[in-house]
Amino acid sequence: MKRADWLNDAVFYEIYPQSFMDTDSDGIGNINGITMKLDYIRELGCNAIWINPCFESPFLDAGYDVSDYYRIAPRYGTNEDMEELFKEAHKRGIHILLDLVPGHTSWEHPWFKESMKAEKNEYSDRYIWTDSVWESPEGYGSLRGISDRDGSCLVNFFTHQPALNYGFYRPERPWQQSMDSKAALATREEIKNIMRFWLSKGCDGFRVDMAGSLVKNDEDGKGTIALWQDIRAYLDKEFPEAVLVSEWGEPDKSIEAGFHMDFLLHFGPSHYNDLFRCEKPFFGGEGDASEFVSRYLESYDKAAGRGFICIPSGNHDMDRLAKYIKGERAKMAFAFLLSMPGAPYIYYGDEIGMRYVEGLASVEGGYNRTGSRSPMQWNKEKNAGFSDAQSGSLYIPADPAPERPDVETQLKDEDSLLNEVKRLIAIRRSHKALMNPGGIEFICNGRCGEPLIYCRNYGDEKILAAFNPADNEYRLSDTKIKEIIYLLGEKPDAGEDKCIIKPRSAFYAIV
Ligand code: NOJ
Repeated sequence: MKRADWLNDAVFYEIYPQSFMDTDSDGIGNINGITMKLDYIRELGCNAIWINPCFESPFLDAGYDVSDYYRIAPRYGTNEDMEELFKEAHKRGIHILLDLVPGHTSWEHPWFKESMKAEKNEYSDRYIWTDSVWESPEGYGSLRGISDRDGSCLVNFFTHQPALNYGFYRPERPWQQSMDSKAALATREEIKNIMRFWLSKGCDGFRVDMAGSLVKNDEDGKGTIALWQDIRAYLDKEFPEAVLVSEWGEPDKSIEAGFHMDFLLHFGPSHYNDLFRCEKPFFGGEGDASEFVSRYLESYDKAAGRGFICIPSGNHDMDRLAKYIKGERAKMAFAFLLSMPGAPYIYYGDEIGMRYVEGLASVEGGYNRTGSRSPMQWNKEKNAGFSDAQSGSLYIPADPAPERPDVETQLKDEDSLLNEVKRLIAIRRSHKALMNPGGIEFICNGRCGEPLIYCRNYGDEKILAAFNPADNEYRLSDTKIKEIIYLLGEKPDAGEDKCIIKPRSAFYAIV
């Protein structure tokens, strides 16, 4: 696999298209809104974008329930608008990843409608059905009694998301088809067709939803790995520069499967939440980062030299960072995110400290996630500058707080979070040691009350990054600082071979 070179200094911006910018005053964001804001993204310093699903869908799960992979949902615009976005982004040196949902479709997808029919047809086995409605697949949710077809259909996530059939690694029941069965291979071919369609139009790759979920009865992931290796081989032939990032959370598997990058997930074993989202998060000043560090190192070692582990500031599935980490501490959290290896991902609005909006009614399958999906706040005008629609008719209501942060105000304030994030990205992108492929060595793992300190390196360049969110100072011995290139809070007392790190401070220094 060839790694697209731009990944080495990629800093991603995740856009939830519903809530980013509405240019046609219907209360919901659109593709032209993203195009309109490309200069903002470039000025922030991001050079890559991941857009959440924007294909035709009944939107019972915000678009993760696709009903036509080949068509942009009319509420967001047209396929031509998307092509225009690719073009305008590329002019500005920005790459775009679309969100590919290969594990399931909407139950309204025409394939599923055909698949529900009792008479055998081309799509009967596009999904996974048992051969009797009285048999439910063990360990999976299922749809039962919904049509004349005698069988239960496996679901992949919500009930309205039937699982596509890529086969079983170890088929155990007569209805479980193998990975190389005709129908399983046909599904795989269709996913390749979808990728070809969008890559030919100019997209740079995909974030892949639930990438590890495709082959069933596959505890070690061997079948799913083989499947993705086959897809990668196809990409290498036709679109060698196409980038794949997985929602998998197991880099030893995903990177072997051919993904360039894997996300550090907020669920599962990563301990990511210990840093930002728990009762006592590390960046809140009283927490413990040590479990995170040991899990991170395990993953890092497995991925090292082969692929990246991506740490997001947040995403559309978790509470906003600002719910737990605010003010100067938020700057520190970004200083951490933007000095770690792998490509950082900034969730739209986190760069201005957008709040998690409490108490919102669920919108389109958001449930508790809705509070992290409210409209982007651009200025102090109506609807925070997101839309000209009447306030009551927004897709999700804007944060009602009078003190809600916004881009325009923060751009004018040198001390704002937004300007800090801009500075941090610029520093990252001007030091190879801080960029995505640079190495990392932990010096202090942030055990209760102690700071988190690591050294990033690339070639001869070594940069020490230290984060002390606690109220006590910390003495680091055997360290000689040459030059501080980023400072938050009070400067460290640096002597010949020691360094006293001040409470509630962070810095990067060349050593
Ligand atoms: C993960 C996505 O991030 C989430 O938003 C979605 O609900 C599920 N996958 C199902 O596709």
